[in-house]
Amino acid sequence: MKIEHFILGPERYQEYNSSLHSGAFTWSSPSNIALVKYWGKKENQIPENPSISFTLDACKTTTTLKYSKKESGADFSFEVFLDGEKKDEFKPKIETFFKRIELYLPFLRAYHFKIETSNTFPHSSGIASSASGMSALALCLMSMENQLLMSSEGGKPLNDGFFTEKASFLARLGSGSACRSIEGDVVVWGKHADIEGSSDLFGVKFPYTVHENFKNYNDTILLVDKGEKQVSSTVGHDLMYGHPFAQERFKQAHKHLSHMIDVLKRGDLKAFISLVESEALTLHAMMMSSMPYFILMKPSTLEIINKIWAFRNQTGSNLCFTLDAGANVHVLYPEKETEQVLEFIKNELVEYCQNGHYICDTIGFGANLLDEE
Ligand code: DP6
Repeated sequence: MKIEHFILGPERYQEYNSSLHSGAFTWSSPSNIALVKYWGKKENQIPENPSISFTLDACKTTTTLKYSKKESGADFSFEVFLDGEKKDEFKPKIETFFKRIELYLPFLRAYHFKIETSNTFPHSSGIASSASGMSALALCLMSMENQLLMSSEGGKPLNDGFFTEKASFLARLGSGSACRSIEGDVVVWGKHADIEGSSDLFGVKFPYTVHENFKNYNDTILLVDKGEKQVSSTVGHDLMYGHPFAQERFKQAHKHLSHMIDVLKRGDLKAFISLVESEALTLHAMMMSSMPYFILMKPSTLEIINKIWAFRNQTGSNLCFTLDAGANVHVLYPEKETEQVLEFIKNELVEYCQNGHYICDTIGFGANLLDEE
């Protein structure tokens, strides 16, 4: 698949001269948790290695995009609101996003946008909202493109497959991991030899049957540190340039993904645990061994990891942990073990969470259109 695929041909550009004046779309889009991590990217948000994630269900961003045709002016024109409050500090990130995607959505400068967004998880929870936020916005913009095409003379809607693919393509240009938040419970992003149709340009649904052991898998997010991220993802990915172990890490990610395909098909929970924990610790090892170097885990992160290992040894449970680029711990476990693991979390792990806060989530299936006007 080539980038040109996402640029409308000259005949369709004409159709943008439609009389569409104003309207609104509302999409709700989930966060996701990577099992094999994306860490390191090339120009234009192309990942250095393929990644795979579970889509979450409860951690979501809902975004309403209101658009109205502008009288004049060639600049981007938009306002952003979080929970009803104007947030000018979010504007630079969206401006960068618009600049990156305007080639693919040539109507962007012709409209004024009001972007109203809210998260189901607290803004200050330390849970990154970029994946859910950028995917929700990309979907709203795709709905708008669809509307523009349909409202023009003889216009037809985009087919569903293209709509989803382009939404993921655009979301990636907002934040890499956002392209894994559009559709599907398990999503792969990045070209991988064993996954037909996989692409560096957008996320695809895991194309094989996932074993029922992973059905309704749980992700309980322990909020160890709710502060601002110590290392932004842009800075983080840049640490992989010239990193002494980078090339080996990228190769390892390919191998881990090959292995993960097999594990997900066979429902091998023990192998799943080894892979997922190794990926989490490798991500942090990359940060610790880069220049400059960072330790993003907190003492409580390590306490939790040790408690999880001890619990697993004692009980034979299949819970495991994974980490993002921060101190919070995602505890992953099968549906069958929900009661037992939640009991363990309440008794032994909550004390390491800031103000005792944690969020219970499970695997979800992707984004939803909530409203259109
Ligand atoms: C550690 O997607 O936030 O969560 O493309 O710069 O926006 P940008 O990065 P981002 O990086 C996510 C990194 C990660 C691993 C992952 O989700 O695969």
